[in-house]
Amino acid sequence: MKVCVVGSGGREHALVDALSRTAEVVITPGNPGIAESVADRPEDIEADLYVIGPEAPLVDGLADRLRAMGRVVFGPGADGALLEGSKAWMKEVVAAAGVPTASYATFEDLDDALGFLAGMVPPFVIKTDGLAAGKGVLVTDSLTEARNAVGDYLSGHAFGEAGRRVVIEEGLSGPELSVLAVCDGNKGVLLAPAQDFKRVGDGDNGPNTGGMGAYSPVPFVNDELLQEVQDNFITPTLAELRKRGIDYRGVLYAGLMLTPSGLKLIEYNVRFGDPETQVVLPRFDGDLANLLLEAANGDLRTEPQFHDEACVTVVCAAQGYPSTPRSGDVISGIADAEAADGVNVYCAGVTTNDDGQLVTSGGRVLNVTATGETLAAARARAYEAAARISWEGMFHRSDIAAEAAAQT
Ligand code: AMP
Ligand code: GLY
Repeated sequence: MKVCVVGSGGREHALVDALSRTAEVVITPGNPGIAESVADRPEDIEADLYVIGPEAPLVDGLADRLRAMGRVVFGPGADGALLEGSKAWMKEVVAAAGVPTASYATFEDLDDALGFLAGMVPPFVIKTDGLAAGKGVLVTDSLTEARNAVGDYLSGHAFGEAGRRVVIEEGLSGPELSVLAVCDGNKGVLLAPAQDFKRVGDGDNGPNTGGMGAYSPVPFVNDELLQEVQDNFITPTLAELRKRGIDYRGVLYAGLMLTPSGLKLIEYNVRFGDPETQVVLPRFDGDLANLLLEAANGDLRTEPQFHDEACVTVVCAAQGYPSTPRSGDVISGIADAEAADGVNVYCAGVTTNDDGQLVTSGGRVLNVTATGETLAAARARAYEAAARISWEGMFHRSDIAAEAAAQT
């Protein structure tokens, strides 16, 4: 089977790695750190299966265009991708599906939004309705900060058109959990759970990012909790989408919080998580290309299996991320890091300079990923490997999976 992966980040590098175990794989556009990269448009590549990584092309209808050409695609059409493309629409769908989630209201008018904030108790949770690369969410106890954010969002200053409508939510608390379901339009099968780290700094401080690291498995998640995810989140959501005429084939990613009053949905994404994919797929035990093909064909038969070993990824980022990452710095040490047992370095924000050297070209540059018998072992390997990599201004969190590793 030939698979075409669409995207250029660490998530797609991990997908290429896992799919290559059983299939011939190309990736477009990829990046210079991924050997299978080709420059052609996906439409111009002949493949048996197309796997679309990022949300933007999904929201933009790439899956629909490929399907109209008769291609087999893993990834929802623009209709289903709206679950991520519009948080207001997502909230309306999950309310109709009876899925537990934070209460909310949407606003386009500044005075209405400020009036609503004045009646809330902190923390205040402000989200752009549209796509903002994981950065459009503010959680704060400060009413002043919340008021300023609403002004910046609605005026278009902070996130352009994506922020001209905002969702203001009830603040929830509790440990977070990412569960990715592979869906075939009718049903979904769950992949191994993961936890990611959204804030830029140690101890969950600083602004939200696209994700600074992740690990799998998650110690507090048992089979009963996963069954709850299936029964109370994935199954009713797919049923509600079907009711609306949406044939959802792709990943439905549930971002969940285990609150004192039970599991609640924080967000849905319509694609593999980044960096969750980097820790889930190395644990996948089977033929991933075949699983995704079954889903793309609307005929899921395989129950995914996972190795017992643990996996941890540490995101190495460029100085200034998430606001203004510097770029063009020469990266060294990848081969040295990968020489260690169980280590893979997934390349994300990289390019080559005029001398052909690999240099930084984005905020999240590399994902240093390691497997091990336990979370503690995987974590130690990932950090030892990350210490072998360097460029001017590189930084990473030092507490990825620390708490979970200490519990196991
Ligand atoms: P999202 O992009 O919607 O997943 O939000 C990013 C992060 O903001 C989440 O992972 C949570 O840590 C936090 N967050 C989002 N919504 C809420 C909420 N209603 N209450 C508390 N924290 C939230
Ligand atoms: N790790 C968060 C995301 O993929 O949106």
